[in-house]
Amino acid sequence: MYRIRNEVSSPLVLSLSPVLQSKAAVRSLFFFAIYYSRTATFLSRRSYLSLKGLIRFSVPMTLAELIDSRREQHLAELNEFLRIPSVSAKSEHKPDIERAARWVADNLRSAGFESIEIVPTALHPLVYAESLNAPGKPTVLFYGHYDVQPAEPLHLWTTPAFEPTVRDGNIYARGTADDKGQVHIHLKALQSLHEIAGKFPINVKILIEGEEEVGSVSLWNFVQKNKEKLKADALVVSDTSMLAKGVPSITYGLRGLNYYQIELTGPVRDLHSGVYGGAVPNPLTVLSELFAKLHDKNFRVTVPGFYDNVKKLSKTERKALNALPWSRKAFQEAVGAPAYCGERGFTTVEQLWIRPTLELNGMWGGYQGEGAKTVIPAKAYAKFSTRLVPGQDPQRIAKLVEKHVRKLLPKSVHCKFQVLSTGKPWSAPYHAPIFQRAQAALEKGFKKKAVFIREGGSIPFVTQMYDTFQVPCVLIGFGLPDENAHAPDEHLYLENYFSGIKAIAHFYQDLATL
Ligand code: BES
Ligand code: MN
Ligand code: MN
Repeated sequence: MYRIRNEVSSPLVLSLSPVLQSKAAVRSLFFFAIYYSRTATFLSRRSYLSLKGLIRFSVPMTLAELIDSRREQHLAELNEFLRIPSVSAKSEHKPDIERAARWVADNLRSAGFESIEIVPTALHPLVYAESLNAPGKPTVLFYGHYDVQPAEPLHLWTTPAFEPTVRDGNIYARGTADDKGQVHIHLKALQSLHEIAGKFPINVKILIEGEEEVGSVSLWNFVQKNKEKLKADALVVSDTSMLAKGVPSITYGLRGLNYYQIELTGPVRDLHSGVYGGAVPNPLTVLSELFAKLHDKNFRVTVPGFYDNVKKLSKTERKALNALPWSRKAFQEAVGAPAYCGERGFTTVEQLWIRPTLELNGMWGGYQGEGAKTVIPAKAYAKFSTRLVPGQDPQRIAKLVEKHVRKLLPKSVHCKFQVLSTGKPWSAPYHAPIFQRAQAALEKGFKKKAVFIREGGSIPFVTQMYDTFQVPCVLIGFGLPDENAHAPDEHLYLENYFSGIKAIAHFYQDLATL
């Protein structure tokens, strides 16, 4: 169990042996005291120094020293968190989801929070905590998610997904980079601050949800009902990536996501492909033809109106994004495809971050088991999605996509078209002073200047918060693009985890002077 130190200790604790209680001794001690209180800024106990065995000093620890001294403890605790298979997509993991929510709540208590709630929702509980004991100081809302993606395909993991293992300076497990590892960085940064000062330097609200990986379906309702509660001067999130190893990054734009599913029905039942083949429609063939028509030769989406309202980037922004130290080599190594494609007229960075896309995520139907089965399936299914960029309205895009799909389909199949979720893109200026503070804190933790990037992934809550309160959203990612988020062998570079704790602790501490 974690120990919470709530008492405020004095800067320097001296215990004097009676023989030393003379004026001269007191004077020399005074100078010692000055010396030690200058070298050590913070209040926790490091060690005892003894001078001829007569004087005992308690030397205070700096924040960075405290964090360094807790490396093993932090890692052991992260392991505990990672061992809970909190897969939000699968109902069989409901008990694990609940266990993870309780784990987060307990951990928040150890970190120094007193007001903590596990809030049930229509699907998975979210954890909310707050500490508002810093009058006059800024209030920050930290958001993260404790749920993870399914670990399948399991046989592709080098070590089991829910048995965290350290190899070559990385920790491997589902949720390391996305997002348990990154959430834990904040919990430990806050705990360290609390331990050193007996309280948090700023007002902190924490929201850690369990449905992010399934589209944050219940969150919007919670935001609408708890506007006052969630109000803050800034939103802080760590659920993104760094541009590259050694390049701390702040993300100021994300793409939105619409997710669709279609079901095509041809014959009323599966048919013998010899008896009927040649004279009946095959829904799987129709489905493949449909998807072959959704991009043109320039890799543009063929849905009419799809690009209509896409906001054009300023020349300056386009230039800045393309001047980032983004590496094609690293990108291609991470992907490993024989060749590359993308929308003509745009650089890869632009294709990934500022251009909308349509992706086929899954297609099924017919026979997939061992050996052969000669069958014309009655049904064929597909899951697909569109990533959206500023200017595109998710509802409008959903309508356009459905209209186009229906138009492309022949009369030989019925189509059930479902929009499973919609989500707006987000991008915002990063002029507010908090962004410079974040940059400075990252520089302190990583010894390198942070860059401002956009990313292609989606985090529904960021858009919801920004639209509701228009507050600065500071997205500080500690993952790396090749850490296999959502894939087998997901991992997190341990140095980023440890430096992350330091950077975030300095960030929160520094915000007290904002
Ligand atoms: N952490 C990711 C989002 C992300 C990853 C943003 C990398 C930027 C860089 C998040 O957990 C995620 O996977 N989001 C989903 C969306 C959700 C609605 C299922 C996504 O982007 O596919
Ligand atoms: Mn995530
Ligand atoms: Mn994710």
